Amino acid sequence: MTGKSTMPIIRKMTLKDLKPIIEIDSKILGAVRPGYWETKLINAEKNSPVSSLVAEIDGRPVGFLIGGASGWEYGVPESTGLIDAVGVDPEYQRRGIATLLFREMAANLKKVGVNRVTTFVTWSNWELLKFFNTVGFKMGKMVNLEYDI
Ligand SMILES: CC(C)(COP(=O)(O)OP(=O)(O)OC[C@H]1O[C@@H](n2cnc3c(N)ncnc32)[C@H](O)[C@@H]1OP(=O)(O)O)[C@@H](O)C(=O)NCCC(=O)NCCS
Repeated sequence: MTGKSTMPIIRKMTLKDLKPIIEIDSKILGAVRPGYWETKLINAEKNSPVSSLVAEIDGRPVGFLIGGASGWEYGVPESTGLIDAVGVDPEYQRRGIATLLFREMAANLKKVGVNRVTTFVTWSNWELLKFFNTVGFKMGKMVNLEYDI
């Protein structure tokens, strides 16, 4: 049996996951963004009572989900959770890994009193929109405002 057919283990993210997350992101977006991810992982670790998650196959991270209880970010109450980023190595997509990550995060958020999860998706990112639609997200009440300088 190859690694690709093995079920992933979902576990808490740590700062040791920084390098593999940078690699997964660069495979997805074609850009290497170490500073961006370092800040995200540090903030995720210190700001939420609920841990961000990694999906691992054969000891290797193949997907991640950064999120947690909102802590009033964007004026969103603590009873709402935020999904900040989700990514799965392109070689391992369409195997249910992001769904497993999301369900685990939702269950963990529920345990700390969160009853709604929100996220922000670029309008043109169809695969992400389709993913969130498939796991049950609906259009929310936040409005995106922009001003050209
Ligand atoms: C969106 C993403 C997280 C989905 O991960 P995944 O592990 O492949 O998702 P799942 O296998 O759990 O998909 C569940 C469902 O979502 C939908 N879906 C997921 N990816 C899809 C795609 N590329 N196109 C259409 N529908 C998709 C499908 O309905 C799918 O169910 P199905 O495979 O039975 O049809 C992954 O494609 C990804 O990482 N994309 C890039 C996200 C991104 O830009 N992140 C920001 C930088 S890291």
